[in-house]
Amino acid sequence: MSVPTTSRTALVTGASAGIGAAFARHLAAQGNNVVLVARREDRLVALAEELRRGYGVTATVIAADLNDNAGPRSIVDQCTSQGIDIDILINNAGFSGNGAFADTPFEDLAREIQVMVTAVTELAHLVIPGMKERRYGRIVNLSSLAALLPPAASLLYTPIKSYVLNLSQALDMELKPHGVNVTALCPGFTHSEFHDVMGTRDAASTKLPGILWQSAEDVVREGWDAVEAGKAVCVPGTVNKLTAAGAKPIPTRLGYVLGRTFNPFKN
Ligand SMILES: NC(=O)c1ccc[n+]([C@@H]2O[C@H](COP(=O)([O-])OP(=O)(O)OC[C@H]3O[C@@H](n4cnc5c(N)ncnc54)[C@H](OP(=O)(O)O)[C@@H]3O)[C@@H](O)[C@H]2O)c1
Repeated sequence: MSVPTTSRTALVTGASAGIGAAFARHLAAQGNNVVLVARREDRLVALAEELRRGYGVTATVIAADLNDNAGPRSIVDQCTSQGIDIDILINNAGFSGNGAFADTPFEDLAREIQVMVTAVTELAHLVIPGMKERRYGRIVNLSSLAALLPPAASLLYTPIKSYVLNLSQALDMELKPHGVNVTALCPGFTHSEFHDVMGTRDAASTKLPGILWQSAEDVVREGWDAVEAGKAVCVPGTVNKLTAAGAKPIPTRLGYVLGRTFNPFKN
C-alpha cells in the first residue's frame, strides 16, 4: 500500500473500463480519493472496493449517463452534497461511432457530441471555480492522436477530439496562473474496450501492427506526469510522438489524400 502524500480528490469519468479505470488506479495508488463515474455501476462498485482495500482511499461511485444533458450538473451536485471538492478532473468517457456521417441517425451523432464535447466542457466549467478558489487543479481531457493527424473520412470522432485538444490548450492558458494545469492527452491505439464498442476489433487486431499499441497504464502514467509538469498537450509513447511529429509538416492537401487513403476503419 502506498503512503498518501497530499490527499486530493479525483473525479474520473469512464472509470468502468480502459484508460479511465487505469487513471483511477494510478491516482488512488498515489493516495488520492476518487469519484468513479460511468453507466455500469457494478464495475464501478468493484473498482471502488479494490481501491479502498488496496490504497486506503475514499472511493465514491456515481452511476451516470453523460449522454443525459443533466448528467454533469447532477454528478457535481452529488459531490457537493457529500462535501467532496474536486481537485482533479479526468474527462475521459468516450467512444466512436463507425458509420458514414450521412447514413448515421443524427441522434447517434448527437450522443458523441453530448458525451465528448458538451459533458467534457460542462464538467470542466462546473469544477474550475472551486479549483481556482483553492488555487489547485489538474484537468486531463482525453483527446486523441487522431486530432494531430490528417482527418479520416466519415468519422465525427476526429473533429470532436480536435475540439478537445484546442479547448485544453485554451483552458490551460487561462487557468495556469490560478494553479490549475490542463492537459490534452492524445493517445494512439490503446488496449481497452474502445474497439469492441466501436465494432472495429477485427480490423484493429488484423490490420494494425503491435508496435502501434500501448497499454492503458502506460498512457495514464505519461498523461499524469504531463499534467503535473504543466504540459498542455501530451502524446504518449515514442511511436505516437514520431507519428505526430511526422504529420506536422504535411500540407493540408496531401493530408486530405492520406486521410482518405489510409483510414483502416473505412466503411
Ligand atoms: N483506446 C484507444 O485506442 C483510444 C485512443 C485515443 C483516445 N481514446 C480516448 O480515451 C477515452 C477512453 O477510452 P477507452 O479506450 O478507455 O475506451 P473504453 O475501454 O471503451 O472505455 C470507455 C469508458 O467511457 C464510458 N462511457 C461511454 N459512454 C458513456 C456515457 N454515455 N456515460 C458515461 N460513461 C460513458 C464507459 O463506461 P460505461 O459503458 O460503463 O458507461 C467506459 O468506462 C475516450 O475518450 C477515447 O476516445 C482512446
